[in-house]
Amino acid sequence: MTDLQKLEDDVLAAIGGATTEQALEEVRVGALGKKGSISQVMKGLGKMSPEERKEMGPKLNGLKNKVADAIALAKSALHEAALEARLKSETIDITQPARPTPLSEGRIHPISQVMDEITAIFADLGFGVEEGPDIETDHYNFEALNFPEGHPAREMHDTFYFNEKEDGSRLLLRTHTSPVQVRTMEAGKPPFRFVAPGRTFRCDSDQTHTPQFHQIEGLVIDEKTHMGHLKWTLEEFLRAFFETDKVEILFRPSFFPFTEPSMEVDVRCARNGNEIRIGEGDDWMEILGCGMVHPNVLKAAGMDPEKYQGFAFGMGIDRLAMLKYGIPDLRAFFETDLRWLRHYGFSALDIPTLAGGLSS
Ligand code: PHE
Repeated sequence: MTDLQKLEDDVLAAIGGATTEQALEEVRVGALGKKGSISQVMKGLGKMSPEERKEMGPKLNGLKNKVADAIALAKSALHEAALEARLKSETIDITQPARPTPLSEGRIHPISQVMDEITAIFADLGFGVEEGPDIETDHYNFEALNFPEGHPAREMHDTFYFNEKEDGSRLLLRTHTSPVQVRTMEAGKPPFRFVAPGRTFRCDSDQTHTPQFHQIEGLVIDEKTHMGHLKWTLEEFLRAFFETDKVEILFRPSFFPFTEPSMEVDVRCARNGNEIRIGEGDDWMEILGCGMVHPNVLKAAGMDPEKYQGFAFGMGIDRLAMLKYGIPDLRAFFETDLRWLRHYGFSALDIPTLAGGLSS
């Protein structure tokens, strides 16, 4: 006959020795499973005499319950311990600074930032945004803007030309964003009110000129648009852009083939070595060209100059970025120097809006 006391001691010892939930489960199967040691003894009950059965039955049932209870107890203890260990090993120290992500490392280039700032201001004034190609035809860059073949004003533009095609025509890198005026007017119907930012190219290189630079064009065409609107728009823009009410501007007569009259606009500033302060001092700095759109340009774009009129302006984005953010050398914009970009660049999540602040 099986020694029940020994069986009990063995099983309880095995339960006590199980250090994982899985080991405990093996002990359970080994004792109470179909072929387990206790189940085997219970199977033998049928063959016993009624007296024996009377004595062994309750004992075996008691053993079975005792073992089951011991397993349940051990199981919950092991479960607790496992959870405790996991909680300890997976703790997070929330006082540690967050690891830098690419988002916090990356910087928005000051040119992109200033382009976004300028378009945000004009969007607030109801201007749309248009774009045109960097590679242009002579027609859009010059001809349709009232620079006829051989006109001396073409020479002011130091144009990069591509090789001549068989028909004698040459493509070029646009020297200004003004071709977008013509393309957009051709493609749509008046009234027009938009800005067109983009890359521009001229064969020129020194501290204040790079062969590739950026401009933003503005065009407003309607039936009664006049110079007063132009002046108000520019003043409003410059105040918002330089984030000060002190901006003072001066219109100087100038010449562009595609505007009549044509003007250049200067802002009052104080210069002190490399430092320039807007709205103070007795110096003036040129920042943009503008004028009333020439009737020939309206005609070339398919509009009746007797019915429609308006103004255009164009400004150098690079120059505005240097002025606003105190960047002394234009060439650094194009040198992809990471240290420079970390210093002058902007956080990717600082999207300029008029309501939220342009540069803060
Ligand atoms: N396209 C001119 C330039 O590049 C600027 C300009 C644009 C002047 C629109 C008048 C009107 O110099």
